[in-house]
Amino acid sequence: MPIDRKDWYKSRMSTPDPRNDRDYVLGTHDAEVERLGFQHSIWREEVLRAWMEAGIGLGSRVVDIGAGPGFASLDLAELVGPTGSVLATERSGRFLKLLTAEARRRGLPTIETCEIDLMHDAIPLQGVHGSPIDGARRGSTGFDAAWCRWVACFVSDPALLVKRISAALRPGGAAIFHEYVEYGSYQLLPPRHEAKEFIEAVSESWRAGGGEPNIARVLPKMLVDAGFELKSLRPIARAARTTDPLWNWPAGFMRINVPRMVELGVRSEAWGRSVLGALDEAERDPASIFITPTVLEIIAIKRPTLPIQR
Ligand SMILES: C[S@@+](CC[C@H](N)C(=O)[O-])C[C@H]1O[C@@H](n2cnc3c(N)ncnc32)[C@H](O)[C@@H]1O
Repeated sequence: MPIDRKDWYKSRMSTPDPRNDRDYVLGTHDAEVERLGFQHSIWREEVLRAWMEAGIGLGSRVVDIGAGPGFASLDLAELVGPTGSVLATERSGRFLKLLTAEARRRGLPTIETCEIDLMHDAIPLQGVHGSPIDGARRGSTGFDAAWCRWVACFVSDPALLVKRISAALRPGGAAIFHEYVEYGSYQLLPPRHEAKEFIEAVSESWRAGGGEPNIARVLPKMLVDAGFELKSLRPIARAARTTDPLWNWPAGFMRINVPRMVELGVRSEAWGRSVLGALDEAERDPASIFITPTVLEIIAIKRPTLPIQR
């Protein structure tokens, strides 16, 4: 089912003020919610392919790691059907409220939400507060699959994240990641120094917040060290003309994050104006293209624990 990108999130907004939320570097405001929805629709085909490859299907029990407002969780719930379940873990209560409302609206009672900080809390296997699904139904042996997209790049300790994912999976369960392996491939062509400066500023701000944009360079080793077997690895890079819907992904990211950087005091207003001016100019040139930052798809299987030899 295609993702509905209408303003339903806005219409369901009640009291929460994003400035009081447990924020992440890109914010939890309406524009970011909308951007995440659009982003999911643009990446949906690649995502479905990864989920199939990892064996997610009817009846699967899946945990969405750092689910955001849950666009992937909603698709996962459709995919696993009424006999499966989806646990959306996320630090932002605001994002989870939006997801709960949308899951109710779509009649998807198999989605549970769990407000945790993955750097401080373990992923619960059962007994989630407010859960419509009892622990017995999900089983205490662990999830069949964990989906993690653009979250490992923001956490301070990705090895801990991998360990938490391992602890949440059953033996034989799949960990699926879409994370950047080469953020520097994100570029506007013909080259413009303003766009290059913006892309460098993004990496800098993620690193300043304790994250690492190119986290997929080290995830495979972390997974092997944590007892996973690497099932498949696939780099994904894309190119967009100004007329392609995909153009609005890298361009929209600039339009939302330039003001965010100015708001956070990371860059000046004059800088913001020059970057957005260069983007507007590029958009009027039919020869312009965006190359997207390269994502590495990683599918890793948790090895069964060997029985202790006596
Ligand atoms: C770029 S968004 C991606 C959201 C979602 N995975 C998707 O692909 O649409 C990153 C998400 O990770 C969440 N996040 C970052 N650090 C976290 C942490 N330590 N614990 C829980 N969630 C975290 C943020 O709140 C945000 O919702």
